[in-house]
Amino acid sequence: MKKLSIVDIANHLNVSKTTVSFILNGRAQEKRIGKELVERVQKFVDEVGYKPNSLAKSLRTGKSNIIGLMVEDISNPFFASIARLIEDRAYKNGYKIIYCSTDNDTLKTQELINMFRDRHVDGYIIAPPEGIEGDIDELLKDGMPVVLFDRHLPNVLTDYVEIDNLYSTYNAARHLIQQGYKNIGFVTFSSSQTQMTARMKGYKDALKESGLKPIIQEIVFNQNEEFIIKPITTFLKKHKELDAVIFGTNHVGTCGLKVINSMGIKVPEDLAVVSFDDYDVFQLFSPSVTAIAQPIEEIADKVITVLLNKLNSSVNGKEPQAIVLKTELNIRDSSKMTANVI
Ligand code: RIB
Repeated sequence: MKKLSIVDIANHLNVSKTTVSFILNGRAQEKRIGKELVERVQKFVDEVGYKPNSLAKSLRTGKSNIIGLMVEDISNPFFASIARLIEDRAYKNGYKIIYCSTDNDTLKTQELINMFRDRHVDGYIIAPPEGIEGDIDELLKDGMPVVLFDRHLPNVLTDYVEIDNLYSTYNAARHLIQQGYKNIGFVTFSSSQTQMTARMKGYKDALKESGLKPIIQEIVFNQNEEFIIKPITTFLKKHKELDAVIFGTNHVGTCGLKVINSMGIKVPEDLAVVSFDDYDVFQLFSPSVTAIAQPIEEIADKVITVLLNKLNSSVNGKEPQAIVLKTELNIRDSSKMTANVI
């Protein structure tokens, strides 16, 4: 059955389209429309089961009450947990979320931004891949609120929320150095994203301070485990001198632990381990895994709070905020010094 429009209702009841629109948008009293007419329209609408066309409404009111959320990979536990918390908070504030995965692919991200534009989303939350500075600048020029998170784009002036990536890996490396580890490796994705370059710098700074030589394996960004496991295996086979390793993201860390396990490497006796991003299961591992834990709830809270404030404030032009949150180094058995390493 054809979806009824406001015009169909107006023609059927022989009243003006404007009157029907005011009644359906709860403005009858404001527009002094009589109770009898309101009830007549409401009764007919209930009888025919009229549903307002949300797209038409957004065109008319300029608001869709939809937020576009773009993360690297929605199936990645880090992004999934943040997306869920953002969705709950948005819903409580009258917004729905459309989320999607950029796969760190610039072209795909540009297509997704165009899709969100077509859907007239009211605001954007983006963990940006490289190369979309221009697209985000266009959104900002069009008055669209955009909040970046997990990494930022240095030349794009908008709000972002991230963690102190540099200190996180610096502190993890210091933890290993202070226990006597001397040949500490770093395995990460090769990326110019700000969070990844900061993590690399934190590791290098800590080793430099102690006169230790960095031993680094950079992996081409991939979501396919096979293409992460292979280079880690090669790296660990090549660098028998390693007595400790830091993995730069959750996915690299879980793949690294699989390789260590498959190679029969004993942790921490043969190799101490620290991984970026904590998982509940890391405490259950034997040995339990030392991890850099990101404040998931706080990241989600800050991201959606900043965006909602921008959506609700008619005043634009507020100075963009750079919110940098702290991580926790959860020290467990995988990075403890054991007698036979000294
Ligand atoms: O894949 C998720 C990991 O990379 C997290 O460390 C997050 O910060 C992202 O940069």
